[in-house]
Amino acid sequence: MADHQSALIDRINQLRRTRNAIILAHNYVFGPVQDIADFVGDSLELSIKANNVREAVIVFCGVRFMAETAKILSPDKTVLLPVDGAGCPMADMVTAAALRNFKKRYPGAVTVCYVNSTAAVKAEVDICCTSANAEQIVRAIPRDRKIIFLPDRNLGANVANATGRKLILWEGHCPIHLRFTPEMIKRRRAEFAHAALIVHPECPPEVVALADVALSTGGMLKFARETEYREIIVGTELGIIYRLQQENPGKTFIPLSEQAICTNMKKTLLEDVLTSLETMRHQIELNSEIIARAAVPIRRMISGKPEL
Ligand code: 13P
Ligand code: SF4
Repeated sequence: MADHQSALIDRINQLRRTRNAIILAHNYVFGPVQDIADFVGDSLELSIKANNVREAVIVFCGVRFMAETAKILSPDKTVLLPVDGAGCPMADMVTAAALRNFKKRYPGAVTVCYVNSTAAVKAEVDICCTSANAEQIVRAIPRDRKIIFLPDRNLGANVANATGRKLILWEGHCPIHLRFTPEMIKRRRAEFAHAALIVHPECPPEVVALADVALSTGGMLKFARETEYREIIVGTELGIIYRLQQENPGKTFIPLSEQAICTNMKKTLLEDVLTSLETMRHQIELNSEIIARAAVPIRRMISGKPEL
């Protein structure tokens, strides 16, 4: 088994060089895939990285919207998604046509779109955000403007609570984060009275209200490094625990729920990364007009100076 794994890794490393490829991975993917990646991060960190790659090929270990974002930011690169069917159900909860119709009901509204969305949807919006910068982006919008926030109604509601801004919410959600409940929090708090409790802002607002803080996965890693707490209860997808534990061997991380698994994030195995590099599949192909339009809201986001 160990021999099989090291042979796989050797072959990936060889091909990474000959193909002139960089391997990017999200914090939720399997540990061995994180280990071979050149860079592991949250959606914002990965977008910033994808905007500045020197290599000719980007192998994206995560889900489709992330690989699409990389392609939009680096259209001249070959972007590979090792498993074609690795999607994000939330991203599929809004289509470009449905959004165009919705926008007609709110003339003049600014549309803020979570990056967990398709390229075609991004092409219809004013600015993108991730869970790391959603509050900052909403705060930067002039107070007299109406704001449509999509597709995650939970992230939107949490941002509205944090900023005091009224947001018009699209009815999308993350099926994994939706399952966290206040009861889970009460149970874990009773079991681990001295632990900090952090959650992802895709959790419902009644869950966020009972947590110590809501953070992106990158924010969780920073919190874990900097906090004095030795025990931390973590309310997000289980994959993050691998990196948290690796970076903080002296601290204990307790999942808020053992069931919080995003099957899409778990589709990519080392074998898939190897096949992807061998066969140059599955290439992200986007129409050039969509790329040009979708790049505007993503670039506004990563510039840190949303001008609307
Ligand atoms: P982060 O940007 O916080 O890593 O979140 C991405 C995601 O899909 C959460 O479900
Ligand atoms: Fe999408 Fe939820 Fe999976 Fe994140 S955890 S990729 S939002 S389904």
